[in-house]
Amino acid sequence: MADELPPGTRHLPGFLDRAAQEALVEDIRAVAARAPLYAPVMPRTGRPMSVRMTNCGPLGWVTDRERGYRYQPTHPVTGAPWPPIPPRLLDLWAAVADHPAPPEACLVNFYEGSARMGLHQDRDEQALDAPVVSVSLGDACLFRIGGAARGEPTRSLRLESGDVFVLGGEGRLAFHGVDRIYPGTSTLLRNGGRVNLTLRRVTAADGQDRLTAS
Ligand code: SIN
Ligand code: FE2
Repeated sequence: MADELPPGTRHLPGFLDRAAQEALVEDIRAVAARAPLYAPVMPRTGRPMSVRMTNCGPLGWVTDRERGYRYQPTHPVTGAPWPPIPPRLLDLWAAVADHPAPPEACLVNFYEGSARMGLHQDRDEQALDAPVVSVSLGDACLFRIGGAARGEPTRSLRLESGDVFVLGGEGRLAFHGVDRIYPGTSTLLRNGGRVNLTLRRVTAADGQDRLTAS
């Protein structure tokens, strides 16, 4: 498999220094205090995912057995609106996204020891012209990325705390997943584990909210 990343994807190793990572962890702790991490389940099967999730922003990505993958403005357990996206993350988006509109959702994924995430595309957004911007904090992981079709070859790389990864342009629909985390590889999170933040633009920039269209 070639070493190059798919066109439109970018790996920015060490984008955030330690102080910026620590500040972001505090921001995310504050988000999780208002919008607690919960255990999402897969559509149809109801199988629990191994990551725990929460969100910030006007919209949050959720999944459940009956209604499947979607964005909604409220936390599925508490029913409360998601807290706002911390300014630090809006600045990060402005620095790397090369997109005129701000993100509307920040999905917070928390991986403990054996958590992983299967190969998938991020395609529940209307705004496919906007990138998905991912930030890794805490323990390193083995990240896998392929092409826009499931059968295409994939390559694996390690994402470390402070790395930013951008899925944009031709790479916006690249399949990706997390094969494993490497426990004990970072001192950022007191109790270990990995946090991944993904910033997403959800609604199309033409102002039409097609969220509810079928
Ligand atoms: C995701 O695809 O939602 C998460 C990717 C990651 O954890 O790096
Ligand atoms: Fe994803």
